[in-house]
Amino acid sequence: MRNERVPDRNIAMELVRTTEAAALGAARMVGRGDKIAADGAAVDAMRTMIDTVDMDGIVVIGEGEKDEAPMLFNGERVGNGRGPEVDVAVDPLEGTRLCAMGLPGAVSVVGVAPRGSMYNPHDIFYMEKLAVGPAAKGKIDLSAPVKWNLEQVAKAKALAIEEVTVMILDRDRNTAIADEVRAAGARIRFITDGDAPGAVMAGIEGTGIDMMIGIGGSPEGVIAACGLKAVGGDIQCRLWPRNDEDRKYAAEHALDLTQVLTIDDLVHSDDVFFAATGVTTGDLLQGIEYMAGGARSESLVMRSRSGTVRRIQTEHHWR
Ligand code: FBP
Repeated sequence: MRNERVPDRNIAMELVRTTEAAALGAARMVGRGDKIAADGAAVDAMRTMIDTVDMDGIVVIGEGEKDEAPMLFNGERVGNGRGPEVDVAVDPLEGTRLCAMGLPGAVSVVGVAPRGSMYNPHDIFYMEKLAVGPAAKGKIDLSAPVKWNLEQVAKAKALAIEEVTVMILDRDRNTAIADEVRAAGARIRFITDGDAPGAVMAGIEGTGIDMMIGIGGSPEGVIAACGLKAVGGDIQCRLWPRNDEDRKYAAEHALDLTQVLTIDDLVHSDDVFFAATGVTTGDLLQGIEYMAGGARSESLVMRSRSGTVRRIQTEHHWR
């Protein structure tokens, strides 16, 4: 019989080595203006490290389909095959442009949950998203007006609406949402990329972000759900078709474009692991810093079952 008093394994403690490796790989490419090389360096490094993790993983959210991604493609088996059967969501370099242009906030990130628990958006690239922290968990509704959701968050956090700060990905498609936030009187923090760490920030007290809203990448929505599960926050998403082709694709693949996906639809488990390492210094994490003969990294390592949130500073020595 299983002894409930014996702590079980926290895979995130091993996963952090994969995000550290990816961040160290990408860090050499910071500011070089080459997005493909930066992404390639992160993918190569993460791919090498991920097979050391005791798990039998299948990549659900990865670098794309096999024919366009040589590694960490959707459906690829990762891990050493000896541990639990899990779904894996990876973004070896979230904020590729941020890294290539030497801008703040690029991270490497991975989420893991039991097999079959992660939502697969297939080739619908975008989602509407609404993310909040633990105080407003269960009190948001993506199908309700933006103002109503802002009122919910303000009430839950005992703030005036004018004191609520909303993170929005700066894109034309989010202009109408930003207008609604402004009309309600809340503050906006625009980001040029990286709405997965942005959503996680909304879930962590003290980051200065109370809500993340807007249309961004679908893979990043599922990854953000892993992080928000771990910190006890909340997220709702809805697939956002760009055009008739997307609508046709959704119909052919039985993807419901009207469904509001709750955090449990996105990751149907309470045993979720999440790790992220900073590549360039941003609001959530310090980026890679070099020192004589090595480098330092900062990572977040989290697990939903225990609610543990660790910040790990690591010294890496080339020797
Ligand atoms: P990458 O991981 O490809 O660098 O994604 C960066 C990002 O800004 C995500 O954070 C966001 O969800 C998505 O791109 C938005 O897509 P687009 O740049 O096409 O608007």
